[in-house]
Amino acid sequence: MTSTDSAPSAVPTSDYDPFTTEALADPIRYDGELREYASVVHLTKYDVYAVTRQDQLRQVGRDRKKFSNKSRAFADLSPYKPTLMLFQDPPEHTAIKKLALELFSKENLQALDAAFRDEAEQLIAGVMTDGAVELDAVDAIGTKFITKVFLDALGAPEEGRELLKHFADAALNSTAPKNDLYYRKHAIGAPALEWVEENTKRETAGQQGWGKQVYTMVDEGRLSEEDGQQLVKLVFAAGFDTTVGSISNSIRAFADNPDQWALLKENPDLVDNAIEEVLRYYPPVRYTGRVAAVESEVDGYVIPEGAQMMTMWLSGSRDPRFWENPDAFDIRRENISGHMSFGVGIHACLGQHIARMETRAVLTALLSHVDSMQLTGEPEVSDNMQGFGFTKIPVRFLSKRS
Ligand code: HEM
Repeated sequence: MTSTDSAPSAVPTSDYDPFTTEALADPIRYDGELREYASVVHLTKYDVYAVTRQDQLRQVGRDRKKFSNKSRAFADLSPYKPTLMLFQDPPEHTAIKKLALELFSKENLQALDAAFRDEAEQLIAGVMTDGAVELDAVDAIGTKFITKVFLDALGAPEEGRELLKHFADAALNSTAPKNDLYYRKHAIGAPALEWVEENTKRETAGQQGWGKQVYTMVDEGRLSEEDGQQLVKLVFAAGFDTTVGSISNSIRAFADNPDQWALLKENPDLVDNAIEEVLRYYPPVRYTGRVAAVESEVDGYVIPEGAQMMTMWLSGSRDPRFWENPDAFDIRRENISGHMSFGVGIHACLGQHIARMETRAVLTALLSHVDSMQLTGEPEVSDNMQGFGFTKIPVRFLSKRS
């Protein structure tokens, strides 16, 4: 990284490219180096302003008037990326979000929680038929569980469900520069896109689950038909890879930190802390973005009006100015819920309760069946530009009881 730092209050510049093969293989390290360079950095290659530290990320996320969602870095239209909500400001955003939150009513959440717990128990009990089992946690646990429970909640048909991971992967690579990886992911996602288009329509999605609720809002005249389909599509796009990530990442973190698994086994009531720490330690969303609606100051730096911005959530989650010993995985850390892995402000994640419930269901089932876990090979980091996670986590689960 080279610097051409100039006048006071001018944003420091850098030739850092967050999308090289090297950076994608280890974004914690490379985005971390950017964070240690400055709290706001102008990435000259893309003419984008990256916000890298916890306090400044919170400021930008909370100030929706100065930092708008109407545009953002790499915001070109893509069929994988519904513009609804994520690319809106109030009042349009407020109206849609209010309706969307009805999908996550207390009654809905209670029913889903029971279904998630049953399914997780069946999955983990089925895997732990012997005292020791070796598997890929991404495929055999994260993907398998989410494909079942999330798509049941959406009311999607069984056939073709395996395609969703390619759609979600392309969606998480679509707010990103148009490089070879972008086009490769979009090509792999194409059949999945067709499946999603088909299964977000009223005739299919409108029959059960969240889809039915959304199309009822359309029938009641509270949502247009087009926005209804966009909303279902947005939930398809936002809720798959991210939660496969939070579940798989938790297994990776505990396999690497056996003392923390032993601590959780002894104190299962720390499970909610464990979920927050996993989200901080391995945030499934590396960045989102904003556009500066007016000239604005962040940490003494002047961001010009119209600047395209990247909000670097992953780098903030390891900011040593906020987190003590940020590279340690510690389910008893003090400010454990201070992470912004679900964003912050009015655009904070709509599905965060669902994500926590799904992760809790799997961790709870693992706590009842698995005494210890260890990696049996090197995990593979996903080649994903906007997301962070693993495509493979080879792990061994051991149980004395079986
Ligand atoms: C661990 C899992 C998840 C993570 C880490 C995550 C992360 C995020 C982040 C970082 C944002 C953007 C915040 C911003 O730019 O300010 C977001 C927004 C959103 N998420 Fe999630 N998400 C997860 C799961 C889900 C699930 C399960 C759903 C749906 C059921 C979902 C639906 C959405 C929607 C609709 C938005 C847009 C909200 C708005 O613009 O107001 N997410 N999420």
